[in-house]
Amino acid sequence: MTTDSDEISGFSMFFKKAIDIKLRELYYCISNLIQLGEFMSDYIVRTKSLTKTYGRRNVVDHINMHVKRGEIYGFIGRNGAGKTTTLKMIANLVSPTSGEMELFGSTDLKQARKKIGVLIENPGLYPAMNAYDNIKMKCLMLGIENSDKKIKELLELVGLQNAANKKAKNFSLGMKQRLGVAMTLVNDPELILLDEPINGLDPQGIVELRDLFLKLQQRGITIIVSSHILEELSKIANRFGVIASGKLIREVTTEELHTLSHTAIVIEVDKEVEAKKVLMDFGIEDFRQDKQTFFVFDKDANPGKINTALVQAGIEVSSIRTQDEDIETMFINMMGGANYV
Ligand SMILES: Nc1ncnc2c1ncn2[C@@H]1O[C@H](COP(=O)(O)OP(=O)(O)O)[C@@H](O)[C@H]1O
Ligand SMILES: [Mg+2]
Repeated sequence: MTTDSDEISGFSMFFKKAIDIKLRELYYCISNLIQLGEFMSDYIVRTKSLTKTYGRRNVVDHINMHVKRGEIYGFIGRNGAGKTTTLKMIANLVSPTSGEMELFGSTDLKQARKKIGVLIENPGLYPAMNAYDNIKMKCLMLGIENSDKKIKELLELVGLQNAANKKAKNFSLGMKQRLGVAMTLVNDPELILLDEPINGLDPQGIVELRDLFLKLQQRGITIIVSSHILEELSKIANRFGVIASGKLIREVTTEELHTLSHTAIVIEVDKEVEAKKVLMDFGIEDFRQDKQTFFVFDKDANPGKINTALVQAGIEVSSIRTQDEDIETMFINMMGGANYV
């Protein structure tokens, strides 16, 4: 027989359980929302079906781009693929025909764009002015006062402290680009858009600019940098967006790329027949030959030991290096085949 108090405790247990379940559901619901919020705000740039039509052609064709805070995003595509137009839409220099975008997790683009620095097409330098005055001019245009300390810091940051008084017209292309980057930084942006900044630079200039990008990334600045040459960005980008004929073919992180690919040892020799024999005698199984160049894919192959074996066999090794060959091939295929330049 049940007593009143048993029934009451039975009821209260029932309600307590029901409330517990509801609370747990609510908890999951809230934590999912928080995660979703974090996920969304993680992206500094997110476009949805972003499109630009010139005449009848979609030169940017329904692209969904995702750039995460803190990363260097390599925007890769051949000339005419739609890189500049995309960056211009993000910067509001060109208005989209259709589609949407979110910047810093917000659709208040006007506000968000205050946190963006832009270097598109050319740095817009005044050739007759020195580096200091060029940055000063940019500060004045943006209404930034008392800029002396900032200008000196920026010159130091981009390695132009010794060229502060030199006229921009006497700068090398690399120096011009670094000055251009300094000018994108005057408003302390969280994101900078750099359109083909590496284009035309000599190897030294490329290294300096890459180092600068890494330095900016360490300061928490997100960078979108476009190029039509993969190699220029492969060493520094954390994520790649590959664009071809206006379509964003693929977005892929560097980690994903490396799991998809394997490294090749590339060896250039003078006597290919003899070299092939040496490699096979050496136990190399997985390799490809293109005239005097060999691509060795064996995971345990040791470049030093291969080199010694070849040299001991009287073969001249003009170069031996490692290369993510599959990454190159993958990109070329993504961008539409081998006539990629
Ligand atoms: N203002 C414009 N009017 C007409 N066509 C344009 C205009 N701007 C760019 N295009 C065309 O759009 C395509 C993409 O150009 P662009 O974005 O500059 O490519 P990328 O920067 O990748 O070289 C090209 O075919 C180009 O000729
Ligand atoms: Mg361009």
